Amino acid sequence: STTGGVDRYAITQREATAEILPGVATPVWTYDGTFPGPTIESRRGRPVMVTHHNELPVPSVVHLHGGRTPAESDGYPTDLVLPVGWPDAGAHTDHPRRQGVQDAQGEQGAHGGHGMHDPRAVVTGVTRDYTFPMDQRATLLWYHDHRMDFTAPAIWRGLAGLHIVRDDVEDALGLPSGPRELPLMITDRAFSAGGRLDYPSLDPTLRDRPGVHEPFLAGVVGDVVLVNGAPWPVHEVDAVRYRLRILNASNARHYELELVDDAGRRLDLVQVGADQGLLAAPVVHRRLPVAPAERYDVVVDFSAVPVGNRVRLVNRVGTGRAAEVMAFRVVRRAADDSRVPGTLATDLPTWRRADAVRVRDLAFRAGRMNGGHGWLIDGLPFDPARTDVTTRLGDVEVWRLIADVHHPVHLHLVGFRLLSRGNGRPLAHDAGLKDTVSLRPGEGVEIITRFDGYRGRFLFHCHNAEHEDMGMMANLEIV
Ligand code: C2O
Ligand code: CU
Ligand code: CU
Repeated sequence: STTGGVDRYAITQREATAEILPGVATPVWTYDGTFPGPTIESRRGRPVMVTHHNELPVPSVVHLHGGRTPAESDGYPTDLVLPVGWPDAGAHTDHPRRQGVQDAQGEQGAHGGHGMHDPRAVVTGVTRDYTFPMDQRATLLWYHDHRMDFTAPAIWRGLAGLHIVRDDVEDALGLPSGPRELPLMITDRAFSAGGRLDYPSLDPTLRDRPGVHEPFLAGVVGDVVLVNGAPWPVHEVDAVRYRLRILNASNARHYELELVDDAGRRLDLVQVGADQGLLAAPVVHRRLPVAPAERYDVVVDFSAVPVGNRVRLVNRVGTGRAAEVMAFRVVRRAADDSRVPGTLATDLPTWRRADAVRVRDLAFRAGRMNGGHGWLIDGLPFDPARTDVTTRLGDVEVWRLIADVHHPVHLHLVGFRLLSRGNGRPLAHDAGLKDTVSLRPGEGVEIITRFDGYRGRFLFHCHNAEHEDMGMMANLEIV
């Protein structure tokens, strides 16, 4: 509903069953009963208030990924929305390592069990209002759970949805729209024989052992690829241009996407936008790497594909059936008045190295934690009681990020641009304003951003969701 210039939504988080595999009822955790959750559409500058009501068996936290959101609505990992009847003696009572409490269905999650208790944790009861000013560029955002130590299993169970921000500038471009604009939330899942979502901690032999988190070390992947909650869908299209708004919402799986027709020819993926909205100009890809949490806004043209033929969206770094993502079946010729202008956005920030008042080095690497393996930033696991980085509102900084293995690094609140990758220039898919950057093994990446918007405590972390739960997250305080 809309009152007083604010768009209001109410979402109930609850258990449900979803028919994900044909004829099979899979128990899921949902936003409003569906997996993925309802897609919210907003206009730039028009605030949104979402009231979340938690009927799940566990506490939850909602984060709007890519949102330019004040800290109190940003979904800090200990800012819990408690479920009905949850003992409210303290926010940390949900921590299984502290309390011996297991999550619903005996799940423990991929947590490193660092056992920190945040004295500033906020306990809010069974509903919470999240306010999003939407004072930001038009783009595809997503909302998902962000509870400390349990983000990965909560997303795996279904707690993710899309949130599209639109504005007049983008509307005026003439990109494919309406039924020719397709948001694609790509995820992978594993299913047990009975159709349950199969997360490794459900295996009783992995519970309550020292090093319980080691099966999660690389992150959890599944062999079933879902697009908007459906396995390997086939979508009927006209022989015209389509706008595909791709999100990799997988916990840990990387994709290198290609579009291939029946004759084995690859179609161009014409990128028009990145995580944080439109590029300055289109970038043409034959193959597009997409790390967890990244978004790519691409236009594809099916006009040269014969009617009746299929075009497969494939993952060149997937094996077996996980190498297929979805397919498009071209069903008819049709008129097309869409276009891809040579100039897209003129409002991209132009920060330069010389604008930076500070340069930081941050290392994303494995390390020892609580007698087992963890994932650390500069040698430390996440601790909500420690401030890792302090910056001043309005400061421009360069961050030099280095990784041991693949880590998709995400900053809350701000968008950034890449200055370099390896010792060279950023790659073609690094263009534009991003909020998540894929660090590759042994490779350094330099990013530049301006910390504007809001003061307060925000996060940066690896968006391999298991890595995040296993400590690879840190506090960013904007003063
Ligand atoms: Cu989608 Cu803190 O992340
Ligand atoms: Cu985020
Ligand atoms: Cu990582």
